[in-house]
Amino acid sequence: MNILSSLVAISAVLSEFKCDAYTQNPARHPMATSPQNTRSSTSNRSTTKDDNITTRDVLSLSSIRSSLIRQEETIIFALIERAQFRRNEVVYEVGGVPGLGWPQGARLVSDGEGGGGELSFLDFMLIGTEVLHSAVRRYESPEEHAFFPHRIPTRTNSLSKLDYPELLSNSDALNSLNWNPILYEKYLNLVVPAIATKGDDEQYGSTVLADIAALQALSKRIHFGKFVAESKYRSDPEGFQRLVDAGDADGVMRLLTNEEVEEQVLTRARLKAATYGREPMLTALPKVKGGDEDSATAIIASAAAMAVVAACEAVQNQKEHDTKLKGKVDPAIIESIYRQLIIPMTKDIEVAYLFLRCGRDPPKDYAPDRMSVDVTALQSRNIS
Ligand SMILES: *[C@@H]1O[C@H](CO)[C@@H](O)[C@H](O)[C@H]1NC(C)=O
Ligand SMILES: *[C@@H]1O[C@H](CO)[C@@H](O)[C@H](O)[C@H]1NC(C)=O
Repeated sequence: MNILSSLVAISAVLSEFKCDAYTQNPARHPMATSPQNTRSSTSNRSTTKDDNITTRDVLSLSSIRSSLIRQEETIIFALIERAQFRRNEVVYEVGGVPGLGWPQGARLVSDGEGGGGELSFLDFMLIGTEVLHSAVRRYESPEEHAFFPHRIPTRTNSLSKLDYPELLSNSDALNSLNWNPILYEKYLNLVVPAIATKGDDEQYGSTVLADIAALQALSKRIHFGKFVAESKYRSDPEGFQRLVDAGDADGVMRLLTNEEVEEQVLTRARLKAATYGREPMLTALPKVKGGDEDSATAIIASAAAMAVVAACEAVQNQKEHDTKLKGKVDPAIIESIYRQLIIPMTKDIEVAYLFLRCGRDPPKDYAPDRMSVDVTALQSRNIS
């Protein structure tokens, strides 16, 4: 693979190329938006019927599909953010940073298990975050699952309940299907060591904020399996009921698996990981002489060049460019996180959901602890 020759070829093509969208229609240029336009749209408070929509409009099966792809950005950015800090293992140890106490408002449960004793720095921040967010109805949404549901107090403020559409079957067993405990364990034991340099940099607050963003994004993504499972169930209720009655979890899994789509997700994740967090390569290209048209061309040329470098990086072996990865996450690791954690957990949740939906408990080997057996290390698959 020769990055340089790709770049030379691209800049040769682009020096002949004029981008009409930029040069002929000044309104499309980001800098061309007049400040007046921006202001009037936010300050004019009168609304028409079309301006307001409801929770039911916001959350639909089609919005969920597009949300799944956007979540890839959220997850990858969150992991890149976490990779800026050292591993800082002390934030994960109970009492590792002593003297924090408990976050305000958290329920102390006297269940023998930390009924008010020391917390880890991460748990302190995560419980406090969930207590605060629960006050504004976060965990009443079918898209959200708390990591510490038993620490969240009953909401007493007067915010009304939002009216969610019936995207999921409403049963206690399905609502309480929550795989965050296993996600949490896998995140700490596999993901953090894979993306963060070992050692300590004292940035504990920033570290756990990045952890919380990543955990919440991952949790949302894997629990979207519930929506996927429900929509598949609705397309063939008898078929799923038959398989579940026969206890055929593998058969259910086969119906849920689309290898082509999974490969697409993996490739997309790897490519996005290689692209994000990269310096724009404006200086790496030959200067294009001339006026505005040419500077637009230069921007496009450097964007294309970045895409080439990112794509090259995405298909290269990790070992070859370890040294260039400072502060970035190896795209192969992001792919592994998708291949070994996100996709399998999503599918296991789908199987568990479908069993419960058909009135049965999921078989033992599809219970959350299966992940403990299946995934003990993240492995990057070599693409040569
Ligand atoms: C807001 O927009 C409406 C409709 O475009 C217009 O009739 C009204 O005068 C505007 N109000 C203000 C304060 O600009
Ligand atoms: C839209 O929502 C705002 C805020 O609740 C409200 O003041 C306004 O009257 C609504 N507009 C319409 C057309 O329903």
